[in-house]
This record gives sequence, structure tokens and C-alpha cells, in this order.
Amino acid sequence: MDRSIIVMFSIMLLGCCCVQVAFGQQPKSIHNKNHMSGNSTDADRSSKFISLFSIVRFPNSPCTTSTGLNGTCFTSSECSSNGGTASGSCASGFGVCCVVTIQTCGSTTSLNSTYWQNPGYTNSYTTAGQCSLYVTKSSSDVCQLRLDFIGFTLANPDSNAKVSAGQCLVDVFTVTGQSNSVPAICGSNANQHIYMDMTPGTQTFSLNMILTGTTTSRLWNIRISQIPCGTSYTAPDNCLQYFTEPTGTLTSFNYQYATTPVIQHLAYQDYNICIRTNQGFCGISYAPCSTTTTNSEPSFAISGTDTAVAAAAFAAGTTSLVDAECGNDWLQIPCATDQINSVYTSASVAAPTGPTVGCVNKLCGVFFSAITAAAANAPVYSYTKPFNLYFHTDASEYGMASADAISTSTESFGFCLTYTQQACSSTLSKTSG
Ligand SMILES: *[C@@H]1O[C@H](CO)[C@@H](O)[C@H](O)[C@H]1NC(C)=O
Ligand SMILES: *[C@@H]1O[C@H](CO)[C@@H](O)[C@H](O)[C@H]1NC(C)=O
Ligand SMILES: *[C@@H]1O[C@H](CO)[C@@H](O)[C@H](O)[C@H]1NC(C)=O
Repeated sequence: MDRSIIVMFSIMLLGCCCVQVAFGQQPKSIHNKNHMSGNSTDADRSSKFISLFSIVRFPNSPCTTSTGLNGTCFTSSECSSNGGTASGSCASGFGVCCVVTIQTCGSTTSLNSTYWQNPGYTNSYTTAGQCSLYVTKSSSDVCQLRLDFIGFTLANPDSNAKVSAGQCLVDVFTVTGQSNSVPAICGSNANQHIYMDMTPGTQTFSLNMILTGTTTSRLWNIRISQIPCGTSYTAPDNCLQYFTEPTGTLTSFNYQYATTPVIQHLAYQDYNICIRTNQGFCGISYAPCSTTTTNSEPSFAISGTDTAVAAAAFAAGTTSLVDAECGNDWLQIPCATDQINSVYTSASVAAPTGPTVGCVNKLCGVFFSAITAAAANAPVYSYTKPFNLYFHTDASEYGMASADAISTSTESFGFCLTYTQQACSSTLSKTSG
């Protein structure tokens, strides 16, 4: 068929289309690329009119629904066959902005930007048992899943016993299928996100809410995005969290500072937080979210090593701790220093003398500082790239008083930090070691 005939056809078809629309029917079979090479489906054959429309192609791009959700552009028939709801149009009116909202347990989705909510959302959910969502790749060029916890409230971790403080004993969220390490989490995690790296062989990923007891009011609303390989927002390998802005806020999972009840950070954490080094930035600084400087500092509290000295220091709530003092739980910042424009990029002076000319790698205690035994928060700088942090916690809490109960003064609630990338112009060039 030469061009002029195609043009004539198009004009005819548009005419038909207008007639159809005028009669209140959707032009249902404007196919995307996925169907172009295949054979017609039954639905396609049901109308000659429809098969002619295969000429129109558009990519399944992200779109925004008329209610403000992130959707994917599909034909209306593809949207319904994916279990989605059409809301607003896209692709110059040929597609619908399709969003899938799943409120059941045991469903499977392959649609980008699926919202998974607890049954009955926005009401809370008190049923015990396992509730899972299965996710398959939306296309072969997808390398990661990103889960955004728009709402996430499960039972808090244990805070009753020293040996199990921070463990998710009542409710827990786990995932399978990914190649990076993703810790089990519980408690309150709204606004947090996680990345799941895909291995080439894995086809199905599962997201599992494992819930015990019927007294907890749980709520979740998780957006699942399929991240293509090699984009500016594809996280490097093995980054559980990825931040791309010049400034931002980092919090440990279940970060909830409260004097009562005592709420611990989670046990068994082992993950990387990665911050994209933006062009023109050579370093990074971290500071506590809150500037309050009482003993129960509400931005940083991580118990360290199971020694009498470290435990007493933590329980007294008076000092920062670094490196060897942070043997059990710690936040790792490579070559953390109190010196802005430091020329050091690897630890050369060990604690406890402090990093006034060098740096440390592990931070804990109740004040946030790169110097040990500090009784105040201080900005912490790092000029080591990439700007990655690593958070490690073990099975229990050692930095508490010897009694089995945890008190407010020994609450180890984790961290809330702001970061600011440091422009290269503010950094001295590294002329000597
Ligand atoms: C279409 O169907 C025919 C006959 O069933 C088959 O030979 C052919 O391989 C199919 N084409 C595609 C692209 O699936
Ligand atoms: C839509 O996506 C953008 C960017 O990924 C995000 O910032 C925004 O919160 C999302 N909106 C909703 C309603 O999920
Ligand atoms: C999925 O949607 C997000 C935005 O919501 C977009 O950044 C991403 O490229 C989409 N993934 C695919 C495979 O199209």
C-alpha cells in the first residue's frame, strides 16, 4: 500500500472513529506495539473496523490520571484486561491513563505503577494471616522494582525484652525474588521506599504481609514501579534506597521518636542507602533532622557495642560513639569527618582520639558526631564517592541497662538525618596527603 492510500485510509478511519465516539462507543482496539507483530485476537476479529485501527501505535508511557495517580497509557481494552481502571486520556486521546489498584491478597500484576492496598483500604485491616501480591515484569527492559510506601503501618517491633528488641514479632513485611538484600520491616514506614534488583532468571516477585493477631490496625498503600535498566533513576546495584536530589532526608525504618511508648529501630538491618553524586558535587554533609539537644535527642540514637562502658555511655544518654565502640549496631559513613573540605577520603586516624585530622567509618551513640564522646550534635562530612551509607543492626539491643526492660533513656530509635551535597567549589583540592 503506498502512502497516499494509507493517508486515505487514515482519513476514512478517523471519520469512522468520530462517528463511533459520537455514538458514545469507545474505539476499543487501538493497539500498542505489543500486539503489532502478533496474530489478531478474537476481539480483534469481531469487527473489521477494529482491525484497521492496528495502524495506530503508541508506547505504554507513564501518565497522570485525572485523580492524580501515576498510571500507564494503554488502550481501554488493554487497561481492563490488566485489571486496571481508566482515568483520563493519553496518547493524543488514543489511549486511556490506566491505573491498577489492588486490594486483595494473592493477586498478580505486571502493570507499572500498581497501587497495592490493604483489603478495605482506607479502613484499617485487622485480619491475621498472610497477604501477598505477586509482581511480574512489565517488559524485558525492566531491571528493578521500586516500592514507595505511601502508607505503611504495621505492628511495632518488640520493645519488651533485651534479647529481641527491634524484632518484627507480630507483623512483618518481606519480599522475595530480588537479588539485593532487603531487610524484613514492620512498624511505621510511610514515605520510605525500597528498590528490588532483578536477576535475569527471576520472573515473579512476591511482596508479603505476614500478620499475626487481630488487634493491630494495619494500613498499607504501596506503589510498585517497574524501573527500566540504565536510566538516571535506576539505582546502582545493591542499593536498598536511592536518593537523586542534592539535598534530602534519610531515616531508618520505623523511625518514630517518642518518649512513650518506647519504639525501637528494627533488628536485623543490613542495607545500603545510596545518594547519586550529582554533577559538580564533591562531598556530602549530614546533620540531625532536629536541632534539639536534650539528652533524649530525637534524631539519633543507636546503641553500640555490648561492653559495660559503651552500654553505660548509651544508657546515660550523654555521648556520641564511633568505630570500635559501635560493634553491634552502627550507621556507616565512609571516612566521616568533622572537617569541612577535608582532604581525607579513607580512615587514617582511629577512634577514640577523634578525627580532627582524619576520619571514622562507624557512628552510634546518642549524639551524631564524627568525634567520639561528643556531648552535642555536629555536622558530619564525607568526601568519599559514591555517597553511600550502610546501616547494620543485630538481633537485639545491648546498649540498655542490665534490666530486661527498655526505658525511655535507653530507647534506640535509629536515625533521621538530612544530607546536603557539597559543591566542588567549596572543596580544597587534594594537594597533599
Ligand atoms: C499466526 O498464526 C499462524 C497460524 O496459526 C501461525 O503460523 C503464525 O506463526 C502466527 N504468527 C504469530 C506472529 O504468532
Ligand atoms: C507519581 O510519581 C512521582 C514520581 O515518581 C511521585 O513523586 C508522586 O508522588 C507519584 N504520585 C502518586 C500519587 O503516587
Ligand atoms: C514506570 O513508571 C515510572 C513513573 O511512574 C517511570 O519512571 C518508569 O519509566 C516506568 N517504567 C516503564 C518500564 O515504563
